[in-house]
Amino acid sequence: WILILDYGSQLTQLIARRLRELHIYCEIHPFNVNLEDVNTPEPGGIILSGGPKSVNDEGAPHLQKEILDWDVPILGICYGLQLLAHNEIPGSVEQAEKREYGRANLLIDNAEDLLKAIPNESVVWMSHGDHIHALPPSYEIIGHTTNAKVAAVRHKENQIYGVQFHPEVAHTDHGKQILQNFAYDICDLKGDWTSESFIEEQIASIREKVGDDKVLCALSGGVDSTVVATLIHKAIGDQLQCVFVDNGLLRKNEFDSVMDLYTRDLHLPVRGVDASELFLERLEGVSDPEKKRKIIGNTFIDVFDDEIKHDGDFKYLAQGTLYPDVIESVSFKGPSATIKSHHNVGGLPEKMKLDLIEPVRELFKDEVREVGRALGIPAHFIGRHPFPGPGLGIRVLGEPTKERLDLLREADYIFVEELKKQDLYDEVWQALAVLLPVQSVGVMGDERTYEFTIALRAVTSRDGMTADWAHLPYEFLAHVSNRIINEIQGINRVVYDVSSKPPATIEWE
Ligand code: XMP
Repeated sequence: WILILDYGSQLTQLIARRLRELHIYCEIHPFNVNLEDVNTPEPGGIILSGGPKSVNDEGAPHLQKEILDWDVPILGICYGLQLLAHNEIPGSVEQAEKREYGRANLLIDNAEDLLKAIPNESVVWMSHGDHIHALPPSYEIIGHTTNAKVAAVRHKENQIYGVQFHPEVAHTDHGKQILQNFAYDICDLKGDWTSESFIEEQIASIREKVGDDKVLCALSGGVDSTVVATLIHKAIGDQLQCVFVDNGLLRKNEFDSVMDLYTRDLHLPVRGVDASELFLERLEGVSDPEKKRKIIGNTFIDVFDDEIKHDGDFKYLAQGTLYPDVIESVSFKGPSATIKSHHNVGGLPEKMKLDLIEPVRELFKDEVREVGRALGIPAHFIGRHPFPGPGLGIRVLGEPTKERLDLLREADYIFVEELKKQDLYDEVWQALAVLLPVQSVGVMGDERTYEFTIALRAVTSRDGMTADWAHLPYEFLAHVSNRIINEIQGINRVVYDVSSKPPATIEWE
């Protein structure tokens, strides 16, 4: 495996993504991690990330020199490289006359190892204010650009390498090859980390951790919790108990169809709980989006708490926490850089004194999907669009009454059904309908109507952080609009949302 020491770059997660794509297991830890906590098993390689500071700044994140004695290959990227140089000769790094941001042409001086199988001239992506003006004599240059004499280096005796550019970004043409050269050839790692090996390892470690104890898992109907439950069930069978709560804010037929999948296809021990009345009661008269979210979250905890009192004696709570929730970029505000623990079921573990089991906390979303496939979860379920925890509660703008939720449920159903029928469902990242709390005038037959408006939203995105509105065909939108207005009494107008994120968000609340 490869240890990535994080010096605070926005790009550190990308290093991990690229290595995972090469089937290399890796973990990101803060630069000042206690090395004793991460040296068993000993990593096969270490990468020092980039970072926003200058190595010359007072209190700048430092190099833990012990790693140089570990006899493990090291690759420094940007700040990481500068740290290595600065460590040998303080003062060898200084502010560059010309800051260098964006594309540059890498010219290769030595293609023996790190820069093997890369064209003599290729595009790399730079982002730095400092540069190395005096390379310590123990290093030699293996690549340069017009602006940076020292673009890629290697140590003359030890397996220590450095690049001034960022191989982890897509704009660096052969970045992945460079990381592959480092991982496969220099570190001699095999690239055998796959979904199957992950599942095997997890099953063994869950068995060992849990022993004869009982594990509780809250299912949301989403991919992450379903993968977690399936994995744990494979490991410990019916020592696992799952709970799936109907909060009255789910899509049409969702509760029944997901319960079916859980019990019939996946054979999970799951208890369905209908708490829809309680949720709607507590949401009465509430229209502020943040208040709605809080009420929904707290009610969930109460329902869950009540439910598990029946079964008692659980030692563990299983959660679908993902890697992006776990890693927090190093903060320079003080010495106490902490890793954030993200509680999907906010507050429950503390309240109930349960220990957490988070088997996918080292995975990215697409890796969870792959593990899900390998576990035999049906493809149509794995490919489902994301759905927010507060559900339709934040898609009925204003107060989510039962009547309005029912109107929205029907419209959402038609929209999604048509997307699937016309093979557009997988083309968009997320699609949803929103019920606007405004009424407008229409005419149906000879009658004047005064009814609600449905907004349709479909976006393309990679990760939900940024998104563009999906350019769905006009004919398709016309057809969906017709169906919604004709089939749902209470809706007389349909609009399509053509805003991108940012500045808008995907959801309307
Ligand atoms: P926004 O609206 O912030 O949404 O662009 C980005 C993604 O996050 C989902 N989302 C939520 N998921 N609880 C969740 O579990 C929430 O409160 C929540 N709000 C937004 C949204 O559906 C989209 O996929």
